[in-house]
Amino acid sequence: MKLNPNVLDCAAAPIAEAWSWVEDPASPNLIDMCQAVPAHLPPQSLRDYLGDAIKAGEGATYTDIRGIPALRAALAGNISERYQGSVDEADVLITAGCNQAFCSVIDTLCQAGDEVIVPLPCYFNHQMWLSARAVTPRYLSFDAETAMPDPDEARALINARTRAILLVTPNNPSGAIYSPECIEAFFELAREHGLALIVDETYRDFIDIEQLPHRLFARADWRDTFVHLYSFSKVFSLTGFRTGAVVAGQPLLEQLKKIQDCTAICAPHAGQLAALYGLQNLHDWKLEKSDELAQRAIAIRRAFANPDLKYRLVSAGAYFAYLQHPFDASARDVVRRLIQQHEIVCLPGSYFGQQQEQFIRLAYANVHESRFEDVIARLIASQ
Ligand SMILES: Cc1ncc(COP(=O)(O)O)c(C=O)c1O
Repeated sequence: MKLNPNVLDCAAAPIAEAWSWVEDPASPNLIDMCQAVPAHLPPQSLRDYLGDAIKAGEGATYTDIRGIPALRAALAGNISERYQGSVDEADVLITAGCNQAFCSVIDTLCQAGDEVIVPLPCYFNHQMWLSARAVTPRYLSFDAETAMPDPDEARALINARTRAILLVTPNNPSGAIYSPECIEAFFELAREHGLALIVDETYRDFIDIEQLPHRLFARADWRDTFVHLYSFSKVFSLTGFRTGAVVAGQPLLEQLKKIQDCTAICAPHAGQLAALYGLQNLHDWKLEKSDELAQRAIAIRRAFANPDLKYRLVSAGAYFAYLQHPFDASARDVVRRLIQQHEIVCLPGSYFGQQQEQFIRLAYANVHESRFEDVIARLIASQ
């Protein structure tokens, strides 16, 4: 049979390739900094609640296409409080994870041949979906000093085929947390040109609670331009339950419902119950985990201050640290050597778009800070 060339052209999912370089996956010496997965299970109370609910017969049916109303209302309340803004139940559509949210938003906004502005480095699944849908990414260059994208550079790329600007903050892979001013400048640009500003905030619960991620939800006109993507995967350790959300205005959500109906029909019901339980009961647990990660970010910055290290920490936050390696070699070759000779499993920057050969991503959230000195010693040994 003939296969879709747009899918054939897509790069394969990278995590599996990195693991294929690991000679002994059972080695106790291995330090796994490869994939961004929470290092802990959801709390016992959530597992007990869900177990009882499923035994009682809940969760086995479809829900409304948009998701369980109580969950949509709870997420709207959570966002309104966290962002000091105004979000209603009607603005929320629950998806089968944030990846599906992104795919559905792109399908609702773009035809083949349309363009989306994407800062480098970028999340590989975003790039893969754009490629599969024949939507052209127009990349913004990576500033390895600030790790922030530049709205003026984006302005120069806008043309009649541009449909959206896509940001990920806190960023995967760089860990950079974009400033509210930076996000708001992109919003203004998108608004001026009638584009969507899509912001994937999968890691937003790992920003300091005192810090406002941005003020977009406080604007009366946010629904005309802003599309917020969210994930319950990391915040409540629910990666396997596949639950996320799109938060946007009615014109987009009304059309997106058609895509949702054809693909997932609804987000997994059990995942929605788990997410609702989390929003209603796990506020303190969430803060505790977020604080642990904040301490880990401080510890990784401290560890990288080692003067003997020739790898440079470009940025770190939420789950990730992005490193500039010191070699005149491709990122893949450097990572393969780190995996095979030093047993640090990580990902080459080249998986995150062009111009990333000099960089490496460490998903440090998976590793307790007591092991960071060992990571640094291994990196020094690799120099
Ligand atoms: C930026 C970003 N968006 C989305 C996802 C996927 O989230 P979900 O599990 O909710 O599909 C990830 C997971 O690594 C991610 O890093």
